[in-house]
Amino acid sequence: MNDSRILLTGATGFLGGTVASKLLREERWKNVLLLVRAPSPGEARERLIKSLNRFEVGEKLLKKISLEQIICAGLDTMPTHAADPRLATVTHVFNCAAITSFGQNPNTWPTNVEHTTAFARKVAAFPRLVRFIHVSTAMICGANPPRVVFEDSYPAVGVSHLVGYTGSKAKAEMNLRKELADIPLVIVRPSIIIGHTRLGCKPSGSIFWGFRMADALRMVTCDVDAVVDVIPVDYAAEALLHLLQADELAHTTYHISAGRDYSSSFREIGHAFARASGETRPADYRRVSYKDVTALQNQFTEIFGPGNKRSMLAAARLYGAFAGLNTTFDNQRLLAEGIAPPPPFADYLGACVQTSKDITIAQQMAVDFE
Ligand SMILES: NC(=O)c1ccc[n+]([C@@H]2O[C@H](COP(=O)([O-])OP(=O)(O)OC[C@H]3O[C@@H](n4cnc5c(N)ncnc54)[C@H](OP(=O)(O)O)[C@@H]3O)[C@@H](O)[C@H]2O)c1
Repeated sequence: MNDSRILLTGATGFLGGTVASKLLREERWKNVLLLVRAPSPGEARERLIKSLNRFEVGEKLLKKISLEQIICAGLDTMPTHAADPRLATVTHVFNCAAITSFGQNPNTWPTNVEHTTAFARKVAAFPRLVRFIHVSTAMICGANPPRVVFEDSYPAVGVSHLVGYTGSKAKAEMNLRKELADIPLVIVRPSIIIGHTRLGCKPSGSIFWGFRMADALRMVTCDVDAVVDVIPVDYAAEALLHLLQADELAHTTYHISAGRDYSSSFREIGHAFARASGETRPADYRRVSYKDVTALQNQFTEIFGPGNKRSMLAAARLYGAFAGLNTTFDNQRLLAEGIAPPPPFADYLGACVQTSKDITIAQQMAVDFE
């Protein structure tokens, strides 16, 4: 790894930002190139600093970000290595860039499929390429997965998707495998990423608002003992870095997930919320139907705080469908690489509660529908 050179995309985002904040603490930071969307390296640096402040990186480390490390482009506009000789030195590529919105974002398919494939073709031509880690999502399993999902079962044809985003990620995987069969490509699929073990939801409240909604209602639309496969972002970043730098890997596809043994049930999540809030209350959630939730819509402001009633109802339905899958993503491959299992969601949920105190559910929800 000493003469390795890393190209990281998505460093202004939640996962890529966590990876960048870890690399900044290391000697090899000077060998990192960053693909950032901005008109100039100076503006890209400003965007990076603003985003990395969420991770409490500190002034001293932020000063390590140099303009020479930045390539101002998107996935679709990245220069070839012939046009930008810095890219000819890249050995390791870490693609964390994507449109992750669960809403109807018109850029989702072009970015996640077409632009990602175009980017990968340019990466495939890098003369010193040793490993290309493409970050996908375990949710390419769609709306009807089995209780335990194994890496090789997906992507599959005929899968119905709850949102366009997961369909686009599945298609990107198919394209990359088909077109780029001869490159050292490793596809890594994190499960549901929520919060950070130390910083809670300070870096991002993505998806946590859905659990806040269930907790405010004390209701779930699935079995209370159904489990949900959640990992913290710092764990996901650490595991990705391990997979990036390992000399040999046994597989070319990995889940980064809690798996059956480290996933939390809604019962455990409800108890963790009760502990974090210090309230005495019936901790177990009640199982209800979506119709029951709909019947409460006139009380939403009282229960959830200010926000658009219709959006909240639609979001509750969608996230209820994801949370109620009662699926875990097998993590035996990851553990066999020597990576420790993640902390269960219920164990670090308190940090997410503490850091969500000053933000309403509706405000926290907005990030997932941009
Ligand atoms: N968060 C999760 O729960 C989760 C779970 C499983 C898998 N994943 C996967 O993890 C990866 C990162 O997700 P995230 O949660 O960190 O997303 P995020 O916070 O929305 O960040 C997305 C990043 O991608 C960049 N990006 C978007 N379109 C781009 C383009 N056309 N060219 C270059 N960069 C572009 C964004 O840059 P700008 O700042 O310029 O927009 C941003 O840096 C994604 O592949 C996602 O599918 C996430």
